[in-house]
Amino acid sequence: MSPFRTVCLRIAPLCGRSLAAVLFRHFGHRDAKFSHLSQSAGGRSQALLYRSHGEPSSVVRLENVDLPSVGVKDVLVRVMAAPINPSDINMIQGTYSILPDLPAVGGNEGVAQVVEVGPQVKSLKPGDWVIPKDAGLGTWRTEAVLSEDDVISLPTDIPLLSAATLGVNPCTAFRMLTDFEDLKPGDSVIQNAANSGVGQAVIQIAASRGLKTINIVRDRTEFPALSDRLKAIGASHVITEETLRRPEMKELFKMCPRPKLALNGVGGKSATELLRHLQVGGSLVTYGGMAKQPVTVPVSALIFKDVKLRGFWVTKWKKDHSYDGRKFRVMLDELCSLIHEGKLTPPTCTEVPLQDYHRALDAAMQPFTSTKHVLVM
Ligand SMILES: NC(=O)c1ccc[n+]([C@@H]2O[C@H](COP(=O)([O-])OP(=O)(O)OC[C@H]3O[C@@H](n4cnc5c(N)ncnc54)[C@H](OP(=O)(O)O)[C@@H]3O)[C@@H](O)[C@H]2O)c1
Repeated sequence: MSPFRTVCLRIAPLCGRSLAAVLFRHFGHRDAKFSHLSQSAGGRSQALLYRSHGEPSSVVRLENVDLPSVGVKDVLVRVMAAPINPSDINMIQGTYSILPDLPAVGGNEGVAQVVEVGPQVKSLKPGDWVIPKDAGLGTWRTEAVLSEDDVISLPTDIPLLSAATLGVNPCTAFRMLTDFEDLKPGDSVIQNAANSGVGQAVIQIAASRGLKTINIVRDRTEFPALSDRLKAIGASHVITEETLRRPEMKELFKMCPRPKLALNGVGGKSATELLRHLQVGGSLVTYGGMAKQPVTVPVSALIFKDVKLRGFWVTKWKKDHSYDGRKFRVMLDELCSLIHEGKLTPPTCTEVPLQDYHRALDAAMQPFTSTKHVLVM
């Protein structure tokens, strides 16, 4: 069992058998879509396919696939941009909690433009921008025929990179800042991996709500420039993992209240250090395991601080709210309002043409890059 799965076990309800069964059915449905991709001829599309699990640069290939004709409730979309996220890499490696049947098209998020709609499509029209409602759609391709129900529209007047990167990381940040603690202006939140896509969204959404953020990043020679960049988007404090362990943290808490909420995308020692700084009764929410190390909880944090340990998975949240899309719509509308107001910008991105996918996949797996690689079609 991989260390990543060890982290997952700590949020056991999310990895339980019943959810796996639900997701298996979901992917079964999607693979039906994939198999009809290769059946009939409504045109051709290029897609980044993997036929076996392994290192992305070895197993992912750009292939031509036939498009089916557009069904009565289907839409033909042209994908414009799709990021490479850590979960996309883990899916290809075969180490993620949910895996599609193979062959599969890579990519779980991205923005596409509707080109054609079937006669019974009610919610979309040509020209609309759409993003996937759920994980597993296979966004690394040029065109796709999808069910109207698989996508949700976005305004077309937001930046392309904002749209391409909105559906996963900003939604995760939004929910974690909303659903776990009753945060009021002036309260503080501490997070590691603060330069990640999630981290940059946390900084900006928190700032828009008047919350202070204590942002932890790994040390690097460009730390001053990174710190300035995160402060420019609203970070209150940016410190290194090493500083987090030092006594001078006491000085920081003279300027800023101890956090009610800690957001952990790393695991290992970093998560333990976040716990040490939480307020009594505060919550540590784990959403990622980049260090591939389990979360170790000091006994004192449980006894003397009664901290709450929680997990969050946006895929499960979307699944839980799929019966009634209103909550998802409301969240996207709020996020788009922040974008319109200039309060939520996309993460720092490097755009790479689809044909250069090898370069993009390799670069996306390098540490200390502080940039999100986005495939542009
Ligand atoms: N649970 C959910 O619903 C959910 C939703 C979205 C994302 N996620 C997870 O959240 C995490 C971040 O995703 P993202 O798209 O925001 O990432 P990203 O933009 O690709 O950034 C990756 C981040 O991970 C850090 N990192 C990489 N390796 C590390 C290590 N060994 N130790 C400590 N930090 C390390 C990087 O820091 P450096 O610059 O120092 O390399 C960077 O801050 C991933 O694990 C992803 O799967 C979970």
